[in-house]
Amino acid sequence: MNKEQYNILVSRFYNYIVGFKESDGNYCKLLEEKLEHIKRVASNAIFIANKEKWSEEDCLIAELCGLYHDIGRFSQYKTYKTFSDSKSVNHGQQGFSIINEYQLFDVLEEKDAQNILDAVHYHNSLNLPESLSESSVRFTNLTRDADKIDIFFMLTEAIRTNSLDSHQDLLWNLPMGEANPEIVKKLLNNSQALYSEIKSGTDVCLLQFCWLYGMNYKSSLLKIKENKTVELISSIIPKTLETQKCIEHIDSYILNLLAYL
Ligand SMILES: [Fe+2]
Repeated sequence: MNKEQYNILVSRFYNYIVGFKESDGNYCKLLEEKLEHIKRVASNAIFIANKEKWSEEDCLIAELCGLYHDIGRFSQYKTYKTFSDSKSVNHGQQGFSIINEYQLFDVLEEKDAQNILDAVHYHNSLNLPESLSESSVRFTNLTRDADKIDIFFMLTEAIRTNSLDSHQDLLWNLPMGEANPEIVKKLLNNSQALYSEIKSGTDVCLLQFCWLYGMNYKSSLLKIKENKTVELISSIIPKTLETQKCIEHIDSYILNLLAYL
């Protein structure tokens, strides 16, 4: 990919989403927030790609993966008035279809187009299909990390600015409360917790800590550390013997990994 192709793809993205503005020329609040998320994910993607010393060309592709990853959110929201995939459509699949339908990538070489298409398609899937090429896996994993970093960022930013009360959706509108022992067990076993196990805001925090085991690039953990993610999220978790154990466990997990960076 060259810079010219990159510029065309950036323009095409903004030209596509402009159609979702309200009659007053602005995006509605939720789409505006989604666009901010998209921009931060794109910038996280560049951060990781740079830190991982990817080539200049791959850094451009990584940024475009971030920019396009949630393109499906716009039509999802317009049609269904929700960002809940379970109540509407899979937004990764939706993004993939839109890019194909509007032929947004027709200026790219086949392999570059496929890398971004796969990253969009699978950024939100539970597992990656085994048939995915090595190069698509590389970009998809980077996009998944960049996306998660921003989900952490939104929560830590609300904590940092004392505005958690008006962002209760970040904690699934649940009171902090007790930690589900199932999630505690998984966190202490370095494994992933299930959304169905979430019973409190504390569980949301602990489940997100489990994501750190699934981060694909060490540079992603570096960003997590730089943002003081564990420290800030820990500050809102009610302290019990179990939650203290969890916080110490995840803290030393990150420290250990970063020691070898
Ligand atoms: Fe997404």
